Order: sequence, then structure tokens, then C-alpha cells
Amino acid sequence: MTILIIILFVILGYILWQKWELSQFEVTSFEISSCKLKKPAAAAVIADLHGFSYGKSNQRLLAQVRRINPQIILIPGDIIVSKYEETYPAALRTLEELVKIAPVYYSYGNHESRLRDPEKINHLLFLEYMEQVQALGVYVLETESRQISLGENQIMLSGLELELDYYEKGRIVPMEPSYMKEHLPEPRKDMFQILLAHNPAYAKNYAEWGADVTFCGHNHGGLIRIPGVGSVISPQLTLFPRYDAGDITFGGRHVIVSRGLGTHTFHVRIFNRAELLEIKFLPENS
Ligand SMILES: [Fe+2]
Repeated sequence: MTILIIILFVILGYILWQKWELSQFEVTSFEISSCKLKKPAAAAVIADLHGFSYGKSNQRLLAQVRRINPQIILIPGDIIVSKYEETYPAALRTLEELVKIAPVYYSYGNHESRLRDPEKINHLLFLEYMEQVQALGVYVLETESRQISLGENQIMLSGLELELDYYEKGRIVPMEPSYMKEHLPEPRKDMFQILLAHNPAYAKNYAEWGADVTFCGHNHGGLIRIPGVGSVISPQLTLFPRYDAGDITFGGRHVIVSRGLGTHTFHVRIFNRAELLEIKFLPENS
């Protein structure tokens, strides 16, 4: 009987702790310096929000974005959960406030991409949602490159929308070495290049293509993180995903993987707090 009571208390304690943990996020800061940048600037990166709200109408998240005082806000996908239509208005409410802070650039994650399929139950709702996103003044990036302002710098910003094959459950489908060059124009050598690419499994391909910094999400930090080891499982159900969180560098090029802000399906975060990214861009004397 005593053991049963202890087990019940442990389960109850775990449920309450997870409920609290899922209501928390932190701000993780990274500094990126480049001789291609002339003036300092800042960006906020919101990955995998999945319709979450931190406080009423996301007030706590918005307050932290305002504190960062970003010149641009970057969303590398999955601001909604494709099968939960209530996440669409939640995302719109947040986007409506974000565009008042700074220009917002939004590229697709697998949750947006899968809704392009007319066979999907929420397809029409998604088309309506995307129309509203555009009406708010959010810049939606498909697989394309644009020259934009980052504070006083002119830079290139690209989005990469991966085909759904690259999100296959349980395995990482290899990416052809020519894939990036076939889908995006080659980066300009004289301009700082940012890439928004949802799936970090192809981090090396992004860096080899020439992105000075790539922002990814998708793995949600791996649901459970083992201190000293890293993440256990990705939402794609691959074990111990290689590029799970933080700043990974390839020959001086950065791929920054966010642990994300939301969850779906498995609402679990253990030693894996949600995060908003603050990126400080700094000029570097060459
Ligand atoms: Fe995702």
C-alpha cells in the first residue's frame, strides 16, 4: 500500500512538473561575427511554436522578443500543428503582434508543407491561414533568396522548403550533394547569407552550400536531453539526432539549431527547456 502511494505521488509530481516545465522558456543568445557585416544588428528566432502561447496572447514571449529589440524576426517553420486547426488562429495572433516589432520572415516546416496537399483535411483552412499571414505583412519565404536589410546591413536571406520525403519517420533520407545548388541560387561571396531550413539533419549541406548562418528547428531538442549526451529522440523518431541543439560550425559557417518553443503529439520536455533565440550579429575586421 505504501509503495502504491509513493508511486502515485511520483506520477503526480511528474505530471505537475511537466505541466510547469512546458509553460517555461528561456532566451538563448548567440553571437555571429562576419567581415561581411558593417554594423551590429540583432534577430529573434522563433522555431516550432506549434500554436503555443506563453501567457495570454503570448505576452511573455512577445515581451522577450521586444527586449531583444531585433531588426528582423526569423521563423524557420512549424508555427502551427497541421492537424490541430485551433493552432492556426493562435499563430496568427502571435504573428499580428510580431510584425509590429520588426519585419517577420517565415519559411515552412513540415507542418506547413504537408498542408499543401489538397487531400489533407485542413488544406483549405491552411490556404485561408496563409492568406491571412500574408495580409499581416509577414514575408513568406518558399525556396527562394531575397536581398533584405538587417539593420544597416544589406544581406541575403534564403528559405528552403524541403520535400516531405526528407521528413520520413525513423530514418534520415540522404540528400544529394547537388540538391542545394539545384534549388537555390549560389550565395554571393560579398554578402552575408542567412538560410532558414527547418530540418537540421542536413546541416552540413546547408553550410557547404555557403550559408554563413543557418537557422533550424524541428527536433524540439529531442524531447528528453541527457546531460553530457544530448537529445534522445527527434519528432521524426530518429534516435540520438546528430544535430539537435546549439551552434554547430562547419569551417567557420554556423548552423544554429533551436530546441523550439512548442511541442505536439508527445508533450514532454525533460532537461530540455523551450527556447527563443537571440542572435547578435557583429561586424568583424578582415
Ligand atoms: Fe518540424
